[in-house]
Amino acid sequence: MPAAPEAAGLLFGSRLPLLLRYAELLVGPGVERGLLGPREVDRLWDRHLLNCAVLTEAIPDGASVCDVGSGAGLPGVVLAIARPDLHVTLLEPLLRRVTFLSEVTRDLGLRNTTVLRARAEEHDGVYDVVTARAVAPLDRLTRVALGLCRPGGSLLAVKGERAAEELHAVEADLPRRGVERWSIEKFGSGLVAPPTTVVRMIRGRDGRASRRGGAKTSR
Ligand SMILES: C[S@@+](CC[C@H](N)C(=O)[O-])C[C@H]1O[C@@H](n2cnc3c(N)ncnc32)[C@H](O)[C@@H]1O
Repeated sequence: MPAAPEAAGLLFGSRLPLLLRYAELLVGPGVERGLLGPREVDRLWDRHLLNCAVLTEAIPDGASVCDVGSGAGLPGVVLAIARPDLHVTLLEPLLRRVTFLSEVTRDLGLRNTTVLRARAEEHDGVYDVVTARAVAPLDRLTRVALGLCRPGGSLLAVKGERAAEELHAVEADLPRRGVERWSIEKFGSGLVAPPTTVVRMIRGRDGRASRRGGAKTSR
């Protein structure tokens, strides 16, 4: 496993040993079970763990968080390690991923997580913050996940270079879907290269948000 960069120590402090153990589980059983591609091991820190860790800047103290389509735990497990003040629900429909998430949270002794097997559109929880990384295009993501945000809460979609293009394609329809404000934000300059690009959507305070089911998953 590649050595942890200095930024990991700065971001995690006394919680770094937990992150190192999670990294071991990802590159060991995570790769063996096909949850992380073997080619991702060399870029585990920048592209995965730190890319997710810098999202902590975007989340208020004590927030309830739902990580939609958590997969092997990105970003949900990383957020739960970095921020014991959060409660993070790891929402994932696929059994072998849910099994891995349950094993990881047990192994790390994370008391601030709940692992739930469901698709976003089937789940009726409500959270301060909803995160999603590599789950679906913004169009589909807003349809299935915005309703999991409380009124005034944020949907944080971790996106790559095409964030502006994707947002542009959907923004005319956002007010009708119950999004009050939206922005593109960057996190982690100087800590991770490239910085993490996030599309933030804030659900309207009137509580309106369309929850259309039947959306196709990205896999
Ligand atoms: C490409 S993986 C990304 C996993 C993880 N977020 C990451 O960044 O490594 C997409 C994940 O989203 C999940 N997913 C797809 N559609 C979903 C839905 N409607 N509700 C919840 N999870 C969903 C899939 O099962 C899969 O684990």
